[in-house]
Amino acid sequence: MKKIIVAIDGHSSCGKSTMAKELAAYAHYTYVDTGAMYRAVSLYGIRQGWITEQHINVEALEAHLSEIHIGFQVSTDGKQYTTLNGENVEQQIRTLEVANGASRVSTLGFVRRALVHQQQQMGIEKGIVMDGRDIGTVVFPNAELKVFVTASAQVRAQRRYNELKAKGDVVNFDEVLANVIERDERDSNRAESPLRMAPDAKLLDNSNLTKVEQFEMLKAWFIEAVK
Ligand code: DC
Repeated sequence: MKKIIVAIDGHSSCGKSTMAKELAAYAHYTYVDTGAMYRAVSLYGIRQGWITEQHINVEALEAHLSEIHIGFQVSTDGKQYTTLNGENVEQQIRTLEVANGASRVSTLGFVRRALVHQQQQMGIEKGIVMDGRDIGTVVFPNAELKVFVTASAQVRAQRRYNELKAKGDVVNFDEVLANVIERDERDSNRAESPLRMAPDAKLLDNSNLTKVEQFEMLKAWFIEAVK
C-alpha cells in the first residue's frame, strides 16, 4: 500500500485532532498537531512577557524565534505530547490565554514561514497525518487526501466548554463561544495564509455526526486514497 500525506484543516474545536490522531493510529502514520506548534510559540512569548492581552512585542519574538525549539514525543502510555525546548508543555498550551496568543502569533508571516518549513520537513517521507489551518493549501498543496472539517460555532463552543470544565477550569459558556467566534474571524481574515478550504478537499461537517460516524467517513476516504 502506498504511503500518503493526509492534510486535515478546519475551524478551531471541531474535533480535527481527535480524528487525525485516530486515523494516524489506524494507518500507523505519524500524527502532527500544527496548532500545538503555534501554541508553543505563544506560550514562550507569554512566559518572556512579549505577549500580553493588549500587545505583542513582534521585534523581540522575531529576534528570538530561533531559540524556540518545538518537538513531539510519545510518553510510556503511548500518548503524544508537545515539547518546548525539551520541556513537556502539553497541558500548559491548552489554556484560553495560550490559544488567544497562538491565534495572534499565527498572523505573523515570519512565525508561519518558520513553522511551515519545519512541518514540510516532517512530511518528506510521507506516512503522515497533519492537522491545522493551512495544511492542504500551503504546507502540502499536493497532499493525496485533504479534508476540511467544520461544525457550527455553537456546537464547537459546547464541546470546548465541556472539555475545559472536565479539566476543572472555571469557564463561562458565553466567553468560550465569543472566543470561538473571535478565533474563526481572525483565522479566516488574516492576510497570511487565511483558513480556506482547498478546492480539492473533502468537506466534513460533523455538527450532527457522532465520532464513530465521522471516523467511518474519514477511514473510507483514506482507504480510497491509498489504493
Ligand atoms: O488548532 P489550534 O486551536 O490548536 O490552533 C491554535 C491557533 O493556531 C489557532 O488560532 C489557529 C492557528 N493555527 C494556524 O494558523 N495554522 C495552523 N496550521 C495551525 C494552527
